[in-house]
Amino acid sequence: MGARILLTTDLPHPARELLAAAGEITVLAAPPGYEELDALCASGDFDVVLTQLRDRIDGPLLARARVKGISNYAVGYNNIDVSAATKHGIAVANTPGVLTDATADIAMLLVLGTARRVIEADRLVREGRFTGWEPELMLGSDVSGKTLGLAGFGRIARATARRALGFGMEILFAPRPPGDRVVGREELGEFAGKVRQVPWSELVASSDYLSLHVPLNADTHHLVDADVLGRMKPSAILINTARGPIVDEEALVAALSTGRIAGAGLDVFENEPLLAAGLAQLPNTVLLPHVGSATVPVRAEMARLSALNAIAMASGQVPAHPVNP
Ligand code: DGY
Repeated sequence: MGARILLTTDLPHPARELLAAAGEITVLAAPPGYEELDALCASGDFDVVLTQLRDRIDGPLLARARVKGISNYAVGYNNIDVSAATKHGIAVANTPGVLTDATADIAMLLVLGTARRVIEADRLVREGRFTGWEPELMLGSDVSGKTLGLAGFGRIARATARRALGFGMEILFAPRPPGDRVVGREELGEFAGKVRQVPWSELVASSDYLSLHVPLNADTHHLVDADVLGRMKPSAILINTARGPIVDEEALVAALSTGRIAGAGLDVFENEPLLAAGLAQLPNTVLLPHVGSATVPVRAEMARLSALNAIAMASGQVPAHPVNP
C-alpha cells in the first residue's frame, strides 16, 4: 500500500502531483476544527498529516494520534507540541531555507513602509487629498544612518541585515533567546566587522528599528511587552515578521496610541486573523496579512518540501527537514 497522507489544505503545484504519485491523498474541503483534526489523526487512516500554521497539534491530540509523522507547511512550528510528538514517536518536519529571502524582503518593506508612511501617503492620494507638492507633506524618517536592531540572528535576520546594509543602516543584533550567547567571528561569516552583537537591553534602547526574528516559544512569548516598549526610543519603530505572540499586542496599541514609540510594521498578529482593539485605527502602522513567504515560487517550494517530508515519513524514513531533536 502507498503512503496515506492527509492534507488539511490543498497545496500548490508540484506538491499535489508528488503526493499523488506516492500513494493515496485526502484533501479536506475546508480547514478542520480541532475536534475534526483530532479524530482524523486518531482514526488510523493516515500515515502522515500535512498541516499548516492554523492547525493546532497539541499534546492531547498527539497522545491519541495514530500517525507516523506531521509535515508542517511552514518553517515555524509553534502550532505543534514537538516534545509531545517526540515522546509519542511521531516525527515532525518543516520547510526551512526557501522562504528566507521573501520574508526578509517583507521585513525591509515594513522598515521602509513605516519610515516613509507609505500607507498614509497612498490613502491620501486615493482619497483625492493630494493637492500638489508641499514642503511638509508626509514627512517621514530616514533609514540610512539609522540603527536596525535584530532580535535573533538566524537565516531571516541575516538576510534582513544584508538588505539593510545596502540601505546604509547600522546593524546591531542580540541572538536568540535574546542575549543568551556570544556569536563568534567565524559564525558571523560575511557579517564580521559589519554588525555588532549587544545585550538585549542595549538592543531595545538603541534601535531606531527593532525587528523580531526569534521563534515563538515559552522564552519568547511576549518578549516585547509594556516594559520593553517603555525602554525603546520614542522615535523607534517595531517590525514583526516572526510570530504575533512575541509581542504583547495590547501593550503595543497603548505604546503607539500614546506616542511611546513612533510606529510598527507588522506581518503577524497575536490572535490571527483578529487584531487587538484599536490597532487598525492607528495611522502609524503598516499591517500585512502574514505574507512573509507569499510569493508564487516560494509557496510552491514550501509545498514541494512539505510533500517530500511527508512521503519520507510515511515510509518510515527520516525526512529531509526534521524538527524533533
Ligand atoms: C512560516 O513558514 O513559518 C511562515 O510564517 C509562513 O510561511
